[in-house]
Amino acid sequence: MRIDIISVVPELLEGPFSASILQRAQEKGLAEVIVHNLRDYSIQKQKSVDDYAFGGGAGMVLSIEPIDRCIKALKAERNYDEVIYMSPDGDQFSQAMANNLSLKQNLILLAGHYKGVDERVREHLITKEISIGDYVLSGGELAAAVIADAVIRLIPGVLNDETSALSDSFQDHLLAPPVYTRPAEYNGWEVPDLLRSGNLKAIDIWRHEQSIERTKNKRPDLYKKYSN
Ligand code: ADE
Repeated sequence: MRIDIISVVPELLEGPFSASILQRAQEKGLAEVIVHNLRDYSIQKQKSVDDYAFGGGAGMVLSIEPIDRCIKALKAERNYDEVIYMSPDGDQFSQAMANNLSLKQNLILLAGHYKGVDERVREHLITKEISIGDYVLSGGELAAAVIADAVIRLIPGVLNDETSALSDSFQDHLLAPPVYTRPAEYNGWEVPDLLRSGNLKAIDIWRHEQSIERTKNKRPDLYKKYSN
């Protein structure tokens, strides 16, 4: 899978893709993340990529021209499954969306800034808008990193133990069960005996029950989906 991220602050994306699982996924050739500086596509003298809003109002608006030039240049090289604008107005990101995107070949993620993008970008250049939650970030970069992380870890071979993505919280509308590691007793706080019994079948059943209980208590909204 290839993910192209278009940004006015590419520095914000240097960290997330250069360590741990996302770095290894790229080293293994399973994912490629390329960050593009929108300013490189500006034809203005100062490399500016924004302008005042027509009709007035506070805040600058990202112009359509550099965005169109960047997307066109990418599309000239390969086909893209989706061109996604990161926006608090978008569809709320979910595990189901991550699963779906992980099956795609090429994605463009456009990170907005300032007061937003010229509406014509949304009308004509993008295929999907995604929000990572009901709060406003200073830009779409961190949201793009969240999407890329959630999607890339699902690509077969990225996680060492392939079943571990399947047992994540949300995959079946259930939260993950509690996990423990050594020491078996700390400050008098003990690990449940059953987990140390070696009875794998009973442990599986216990974990499933714990998942159900936890979901019922912490996320009744999810539990409703699970039990339907
Ligand atoms: N850009 C600013 N806020 C955002 C959010 N909540 N989700 C996605 N992109 C954003």
